[in-house]
Amino acid sequence: MTNTYLITGANRGIGLEMSRGVLAAGDRLIAVCRQPAKADALNALIETSNGAGVVYGADACDEAALNVIAAQVKSAIDVVVCNAGVISARGGIEDADNNAAAISNVLMTNMAGPFFTARAFLNQLKSSKHPRIAIISSYMGSQQHGGTSAHFYRASKAGANNLMVTLANELKSQGITVTSFHPGWVRTDMGGAGADISPQESAAALLERFRGLTLKQSGAFLNYDGKTLPL
Ligand SMILES: NC(=O)c1ccc[n+]([C@@H]2O[C@H](COP(=O)([O-])OP(=O)(O)OC[C@H]3O[C@@H](n4cnc5c(N)ncnc54)[C@H](OP(=O)(O)O)[C@@H]3O)[C@@H](O)[C@H]2O)c1
Repeated sequence: MTNTYLITGANRGIGLEMSRGVLAAGDRLIAVCRQPAKADALNALIETSNGAGVVYGADACDEAALNVIAAQVKSAIDVVVCNAGVISARGGIEDADNNAAAISNVLMTNMAGPFFTARAFLNQLKSSKHPRIAIISSYMGSQQHGGTSAHFYRASKAGANNLMVTLANELKSQGITVTSFHPGWVRTDMGGAGADISPQESAAALLERFRGLTLKQSGAFLNYDGKTLPL
């Protein structure tokens, strides 16, 4: 059965590779990114998709812009992938980059972004026979992480995990599965060249997880290989 995926942050990194994987599997793609006019790799994918893919522009923090897209999407959406994310100050308590603007950006993007995205496309999810919300979080947000830096990135992902649990509780009676994922340490602009796995490996594994998601896994924080992680 063909599924429709909506993916935010679809223009580069893990989001771009998940987008490629969705189309390669014969599924349908609604790709969302901030600047479609500059999303060359994504646009090239969409152009060769024979109409299976479409690109829209919205910032993940801009609920009004997400709602404009939602008003144009008439079909059901089976999987909403809240992937757009940002990392700000990676240093410690004395890092000058830990300022109000950077903190606001990371919390808005990584916590409010998934909430606004899930809410904007809730009606399309309700039209699906197997509705799933996948929040791309990070093990850096686990309470067990043991780290000493990137305070607000960690806090934003901990917040995203907590949001995931509340949404899972709230939406369970409607049959909507809500799960968060650690994508691995991935060689993207964010992860850096020295990371463990390629964006292709991460994306392929995540898509495999999304396909198999059941309501029993709602409220769980999963590694890209399927193992349950501590919140
Ligand atoms: N790479 C890793 O090792 C790693 C590990 C754990 C978790 N993650 C998570 O995985 C997700 C994808 O990361 P990545 O490694 O692919 O990072 P990336 O290569 O830096 O890509 C980030 C994506 O998010 C988009 N984005 C950032 N802020 C946005 C906003 N306000 N509105 C809309 N889009 C926004 C970017 O769009 P622009 O091009 O417009 O900036 C880009 O498409 C993130 O949530 C990240 O936190 C990554």
